Amino acid sequence: MMRLRKLKIGVVGATGMVGKSFMETLEQRKFPVDLLRPFASEASLGKVITLQGKNYPLEVLKPGCFEGLDLVFFSSGDDISKEWAPQAVASGAWAVDNSAAFRMDPQTHLVVPEVNGDLLTTNPRPQIIANPNCSTIQLVVALKPLLRDFGIKEVKVSSYQAVSGAGQAAFDELLFQTKQVQAGEKVQSQNFAHQIAFNCIPQIGSFNEEGFTSEEVKVQKETKKILRAPHLHVSAFTVRVPVLNAHAETVWITLDKEVSREQFLSSLKSERGLVVQENAKGSDYPLQIQVSGKDPVYVGRIHRDPENPKLWLMWVVSDNIRKGAALNGIQIAERIFDIH
Ligand SMILES: NC(=O)c1ccc[n+]([C@@H]2O[C@H](COP(=O)([O-])OP(=O)(O)OC[C@H]3O[C@@H](n4cnc5c(N)ncnc54)[C@H](OP(=O)(O)O)[C@@H]3O)[C@@H](O)[C@H]2O)c1
Repeated sequence: MMRLRKLKIGVVGATGMVGKSFMETLEQRKFPVDLLRPFASEASLGKVITLQGKNYPLEVLKPGCFEGLDLVFFSSGDDISKEWAPQAVASGAWAVDNSAAFRMDPQTHLVVPEVNGDLLTTNPRPQIIANPNCSTIQLVVALKPLLRDFGIKEVKVSSYQAVSGAGQAAFDELLFQTKQVQAGEKVQSQNFAHQIAFNCIPQIGSFNEEGFTSEEVKVQKETKKILRAPHLHVSAFTVRVPVLNAHAETVWITLDKEVSREQFLSSLKSERGLVVQENAKGSDYPLQIQVSGKDPVYVGRIHRDPENPKLWLMWVVSDNIRKGAALNGIQIAERIFDIH
């Protein structure tokens, strides 16, 4: 592992929902930044990003723009990552990519440090490291100890995903539509297929021929890749809900064997980054409004199906912008550069 005192970093998409969380999280974790190069679209030229007491002007991407950088975080969408992440690596920088562009590429590591961070120690030369989909990250953090301790036969998951997952414009749309509905005005939808205010939309992304959305396919494929469990059956149904931030998931897990509730809870509690919050019959369980802005993945409402003793149900909640995006990317960088 290499040791660097302070890093020269780039953030592509620095003004976006994930980009802003990068700045906040870099600041909070006292990430050793020597220099920041923030990139965004032409519309952001003239704006300034402040990090660790220094101001940095927004730049646009251009050939050679990554020269001299150690590390570049990408959060501007698939097309920009496809074009520019290889250029960052060619310039000698590590590229940590939040988009879906390289996640299923067999040559690219798809990493959640608590789950498969060991991959980062095997090949210490600058390369692209893919950050998984936000719904996948919280799911695999919760599944990892159960897979390790008991084996898993099947996972079914249904999600309740916040509008922040669709970016800043979608976040603003929920707030705006809520005011439109209250004022009795006609609602216009730009970022979603239907009105999101006071409504749930069972579509995130586009549909394939089998009726699954692209978000559901991401959860299914990425989960198997990260857990290194190609034969695990994962079925996902994803839903956008009128929540500002943090995703929730109901998860049905069929274990390979019968275990006691104590064994099940103790497995989950052993996992770094996972918080078990529950009271079997009371109303103490994690909520989206409570976990927003926090680092861990939270699990609650843990119970067994009385008709199938190997089948367990639980509720998994996490901040999709933080652990689901920026924090996970920064934890990847911390592992690469042996920080903390
Ligand atoms: N939101 C989530 O929960 C989440 C989670 C995991 C992964 N991701 C992924 O992270 C990426 C960004 O998501 P987001 O939610 O942050 O989106 P967002 O709020 O819409 O932000 C998009 C960012 O990309 C920048 N951008 C647009 N065109 C650009 C260009 N030509 N060159 C450079 N930068 C450009 C924007 O800059 P301007 O401000 O100048 O337009 C903005 O900073 C996406 O790939 C998304 O799938 C998001």
